[in-house]
Amino acid sequence: MDVSFIQKPEIQQLLDRAAGVQESGGNSRLKAIFRDLTQSVMELIVKHDISESEFWLAMKYLADSSAEIGLIVPGTGIEHFLDLYMDAKDAEVGASGGTPRTIEGPLYVAGAPLVEGDVNLSIDPDEGTQTLYMSGAITGPEGEAVPNAIVHVWHANSKGWYSHFDPTGEQTPFNNRRRIKLGKDGRYAFHSKQPSGYSVPPGGATDQLMQALGRHGNRPAHVHFFIEAPGYRTLTTQINFGDDPFAADDFAFGTREGLLPVPSRQGDTAYIAFDFQLQRAASEDDQNFSARYRAEATSEPEKEIA
Ligand SMILES: [Fe+2]
Repeated sequence: MDVSFIQKPEIQQLLDRAAGVQESGGNSRLKAIFRDLTQSVMELIVKHDISESEFWLAMKYLADSSAEIGLIVPGTGIEHFLDLYMDAKDAEVGASGGTPRTIEGPLYVAGAPLVEGDVNLSIDPDEGTQTLYMSGAITGPEGEAVPNAIVHVWHANSKGWYSHFDPTGEQTPFNNRRRIKLGKDGRYAFHSKQPSGYSVPPGGATDQLMQALGRHGNRPAHVHFFIEAPGYRTLTTQINFGDDPFAADDFAFGTREGLLPVPSRQGDTAYIAFDFQLQRAASEDDQNFSARYRAEATSEPEKEIA
């Protein structure tokens, strides 16, 4: 049987009714999307002749995997696809250029201490790893210094765990997380205990999927950023360490050309010089963060360090 089966009047009527097409209430955009989504699932079932057992196995997987949805989405390439789609739409309206955007990932926590100056991100000792020094400038499309930017920076510790999400419970809240308020010159500098790459939780839903696909669930060491500044488009990006073994093989597809600096390493220290170039905001909305749900916590003022 082929997918033309879906075009049978009985199936099309089922889709209309399931999506509330004839109902006056509800959200018309959602109805249209939901109808197409349901039809796509039906087409998949027919195209691959999915059995009832296989279908319910997939439903069980979905039901059990909700806690890892933030890893499954990048692991499937969909989060990177969103970036590629936004890039393509930018290109259509001539809004390309600047530092590439890349995936946010699921581990940002709002409310990190707002600090100024040459900032130390690491509260916890995290012995045995290099100290990372990273600095550079935030510029606009013409290379102009961007004044009054806020750089949100977050990364894992040397074990690959993020504060607030560390199952060992050993990290101080907001360890390796800060919002850095910049001045008129747009220059930033911070140091921290160098992060390691990490893998998805062994045996978890993402790991199961990766193994079933013959893939791995590793990310190279990386540092996440949001950069916001009045009049400029908020940038979501990250740098991945160019000398990490997984630099070119990131399970989450977060590594992009232009975002792979190779740290210069000497003894206990690693240096990265990296400039970020923002685009000008074309609308008020460009300056906002996406409406993605994010964890939130409150930082205690005495923990703020400059
Ligand atoms: Fe990350």
